[in-house]
Amino acid sequence: MTVPAALLSHASTEHYTPQYILDAVIACMEAIDLDPCSNSRKIPNVPAARHYTVQDNGLLRPWVGRVFLNPPFGYEVEDWFSKLFLETLEGRTTEAIILWKSATETSAWKTLTRLSCRVCFPSARVRFGGPGSDERKSPTFSPALFYVGPRPERFEEAFRHIGDVWITPKSAGRDPERGVS
Ligand SMILES: C[S@@+](CC[C@H](N)C(=O)[O-])C[C@H]1O[C@@H](n2cnc3c(N)ncnc32)[C@H](O)[C@@H]1O
Repeated sequence: MTVPAALLSHASTEHYTPQYILDAVIACMEAIDLDPCSNSRKIPNVPAARHYTVQDNGLLRPWVGRVFLNPPFGYEVEDWFSKLFLETLEGRTTEAIILWKSATETSAWKTLTRLSCRVCFPSARVRFGGPGSDERKSPTFSPALFYVGPRPERFEEAFRHIGDVWITPKSAGRDPERGVS
């Protein structure tokens, strides 16, 4: 079967997080309270306590606790980061890990790195799951993982086997206990 090109590019919304990344997310945050953009509530890919699907519209719901966010990529992706910013500022989201991509030229990147204090750049290609996807193939974008919260040292520990963890420039010198500034 031919894999549709869209499934391997930023155009697809159905690129599911591989298990080894979910393991690192749980090693860092201990548990995931919410996946705000889940593939399914019945058979979710992410082992979160709560899932919002496209039917719920996760952008309109409260994001409480420890959040793992692998948003639908596309032009509207910044809406997800603006929502995370708001939920963090209002104290509902206490900690978050975001799987997105290295797109340093975009305003979505600027919004996200304003909030995030660490970024992990995987040292090997990340192969996503999902309907019709072929896990042997690589995506055409370079994924990155972002940490938002008060325990960046735990993120560094949990993700260092996946790739180098960088301190984001805006958070350098900022006390993570003070959260969003
Ligand atoms: C990149 S996939 C991630 C799936 C899963 N969370 C994971 O990490 O493996 C993004 C998912 O978001 C869902 N989605 C798209 N728009 C949504 C919305 N407004 N609210 C909730 N989920 C949405 C899509 O159906 C898709 O399954």
